[in-house]
Amino acid sequence: MTPRGTDWGLALLVSLLFGTGVLTWFSGDEDNRWVLAAHAAGGGALAILLGWKLRRVGRRLLHPRSWDRRTRAGLAALAFVALTLLSGWIWSTFGRVDLGGYTLLAWHTLLGALLTVAVGVHLGFRAKRLRIRDVAGRRQLFEAAAIGLGGVIAWRVQRPLSAALGLPGADRRFTGSYEADSFAGNAFPTTSWVADDPKPLDSRAYRLAVDGEVTSPLSLAFEELDGNDELVATLDCTGGFYSEQHWRGVNIGKLIDRAEAGAGARHVRVVSVTGYRWSFSLDDAREMLLATRVADEALSHGHGAPVRLVAPGRRGFQWVKWVTRLELRGDGDPGAFPSTILSSFSAAGRGA
Ligand code: HEM
Repeated sequence: MTPRGTDWGLALLVSLLFGTGVLTWFSGDEDNRWVLAAHAAGGGALAILLGWKLRRVGRRLLHPRSWDRRTRAGLAALAFVALTLLSGWIWSTFGRVDLGGYTLLAWHTLLGALLTVAVGVHLGFRAKRLRIRDVAGRRQLFEAAAIGLGGVIAWRVQRPLSAALGLPGADRRFTGSYEADSFAGNAFPTTSWVADDPKPLDSRAYRLAVDGEVTSPLSLAFEELDGNDELVATLDCTGGFYSEQHWRGVNIGKLIDRAEAGAGARHVRVVSVTGYRWSFSLDDAREMLLATRVADEALSHGHGAPVRLVAPGRRGFQWVKWVTRLELRGDGDPGAFPSTILSSFSAAGRGA
């Protein structure tokens, strides 16, 4: 493999890992296992290719007197990649590790994002154009296939090896999350995607609006939502824990029928008192629950009281807390993702 081909290969793998890393946020369902598999195999391939590169430049690194600015920048980049890889492997092998109040997985996400930005900037300034001989030829093909295969093997052996050695990684969910307080009511961890921290809502004054593309807009009191519809569903937080729970409340499909969805309604926006929102297709939303209870306990404030969304197969940040509005719409919601960050800076999100 040529030096140029190796460097482009490294950049390509970092982009793949960033892409699949971000996709893990949208992979709560078993159908999405491939995302995590691609991420793990990509990590293995990156480590092998990095070893390949080190074999070439390693001798220079052993003689600090010959270092120039480029060597130092290269060493910083190497440290960055190594930390990102290590944080991923430590998490997926040794279980839940916390550092400075955040999970190692959260640090891993930050490192991965910074690494991707650094690689992008580096490419912008220094990228050398690929030549035909960097990519064509049997030798390049075999070497690339060997690296890919190495990555796949690393992914395949990681879990069985952890099980054989009795390491916690063998028990993690396919998303990389570890189990916490399943079927134990409000005991499971209370986390916020960014920093939403509203003041508690009084269930006696609470109203839920169901409006938008509907024939009969609704304004419902808490008692009308505190029903007997049930779901057993797993809340899987991108911070790295999952908790399976018995949820109770009201099925959203019933509310949609009561409000009589208009002919143009295609999506449902689920909106929090903080302005945080997420949007689902009408069909998906019909299967979801607005929960008032978990394992027969009234929801605690930290878990979104009086009413939170239960969205099976979706990652935790889409399970909107402190829900005050369902809005039926014809269009999807490109503003949903920004809202999940901006809500933490809104007056209600800050507890006003
Ligand atoms: C761009 C550089 C990145 C690299 C080099 C990298 C590498 C790795 C590696 C080697 C693992 C261990 C895989 C395993 O053994 O199963 C891992 C795990 C993980 N990474 Fe990344 N990653 C990167 C970015 C990200 C980003 C940006 C996210 C999230 C947005 C992310 C999310 C995860 C998750 C959820 C796991 C746990 C998966 C599991 O336990 O099976 N990664 N990563």
